[in-house]
Amino acid sequence: MQELIRPQRFLMMGKIVWVLLVVVLLVQAVLAIDGVSVDRLNIWPMPHSVSHGHESLFLSKDFELNTEGTKYNDGSGILKDGFSRLLDMVRVAHVVDGNFSKIDTSLLLQGLHVVVLSADGQLQYGIDESYKLSVPASGKPGYAYLEAHTVYGALHGFQTFSQLCLFNFTTRVIEVPMVPWTVIDQPRFSFRGLLIDTSRHYLPLPVIKNVIDSMAYAKLNVLHWHIVDAQSFPLEIPSYPKLWDGAYSVSERYTFADAAEIVSYAQRRGINVLGEIDVPGHARSWGIGYPSLWPSKDCLEPLDVSNNFTFKVIDGILSDFSKIFKFKFVHLGGDEVNTIDEGIWPSWEFSLGLDDRITVWMQQPKNTINGVMDIKENIKLDHEVSKIYEAVFLNEKGTS
Ligand SMILES: *[C@@H]1O[C@H](CO)[C@@H](O)[C@H](O)[C@H]1NC(C)=O
Ligand SMILES: *[C@@H]1O[C@H](CO)[C@@H](O)[C@H](O)[C@H]1NC(C)=O
Ligand SMILES: *[C@@H]1O[C@H](CO)[C@@H](O)[C@H](O)[C@H]1NC(C)=O
Repeated sequence: MQELIRPQRFLMMGKIVWVLLVVVLLVQAVLAIDGVSVDRLNIWPMPHSVSHGHESLFLSKDFELNTEGTKYNDGSGILKDGFSRLLDMVRVAHVVDGNFSKIDTSLLLQGLHVVVLSADGQLQYGIDESYKLSVPASGKPGYAYLEAHTVYGALHGFQTFSQLCLFNFTTRVIEVPMVPWTVIDQPRFSFRGLLIDTSRHYLPLPVIKNVIDSMAYAKLNVLHWHIVDAQSFPLEIPSYPKLWDGAYSVSERYTFADAAEIVSYAQRRGINVLGEIDVPGHARSWGIGYPSLWPSKDCLEPLDVSNNFTFKVIDGILSDFSKIFKFKFVHLGGDEVNTIDEGIWPSWEFSLGLDDRITVWMQQPKNTINGVMDIKENIKLDHEVSKIYEAVFLNEKGTS
């Protein structure tokens, strides 16, 4: 059966269409103030400041990297590899087979001149990631110019430059519309993270690398690797080799060298890896290889805090961590350690008996619930890192 469209409803729909149209026009007007058409400006995240013109340039066939005047020696090829990824990004796998001799040489951009002012290639927390990028007007092209304090700022500049380029389906070459460009940029936040959880869901190494690549596109700089949890323990820990018996399967694992490779892959893209082991809750999988970490057969978490071995294992993990995770921070989870209110502590008492060793341990003056929660007192690190906990831990967020 067909419903007749009543005049009233028709009128109302007409009004809605008008309102939508006005909104669209308003948005366009706002963007047009800057002379930017919506389908062209795709810089992400929006830089601190951007200005542009209305002409076009084309990338020459041999668009090259020029590093004259750069203090950073690029011994490990971070800049060079970043530039080669930039070329891949702007081509988006198109065959660039336009006829270059048809293009006026005054419209051809020969390359990108990059000047990195600092020789230091350390990817420290809080480093200068700013950059300035300019693309000249048509008629006098030569080189686009990118200046940054650190090589990692320059990598952000590469991302922005790639976002100014498009493949022109008519000329079949890479075009930089709306030149001249001047972009001045710096991050608003020194920690721009994304979390992956390889315990609940094993991620193959190529997937992790793809995630890191896409983080670089969006200028994120911390991969928070929530490696292990209650469900599985995929990482090799040389000090306690039975820990990864808790992996989902023999193949769903990362060797210690795999983890080091991920850290290096990320670092070369300006991304630090924040390694996390979640303790003392969320740690059931540890006991598959070392059952004595469990309070009892019936009570598998939180870890048995009355057992010195628990702290030895944590120390072993952190000591191995420090060999590969070079970031200033390490994450100890600390969330959802079920307290008396949430039932787990009584269940310890219930399952083990009121005079069990955990209860006895708890009754010692230093070992109150807060003392147990405050495991940082019991965890010693042999290197300079800060430990991060989640908000629910001790009801505060922060470092220690
Ligand atoms: C490329 O363009 C030039 C100048 O217009 C022309 O002479 C030449 O034949 C073109 N080459 C091809 C392969 O189309
Ligand atoms: C592609 O190049 C042609 C010829 O120069 C130009 O007319 C057109 O606007 C360009 N297309 C885009 C999407 O920039
Ligand atoms: C556990 O460690 C504490 C502090 O180092 C020590 O006093 C205690 O004797 C140890 N307990 C066992 C069972 O080894």
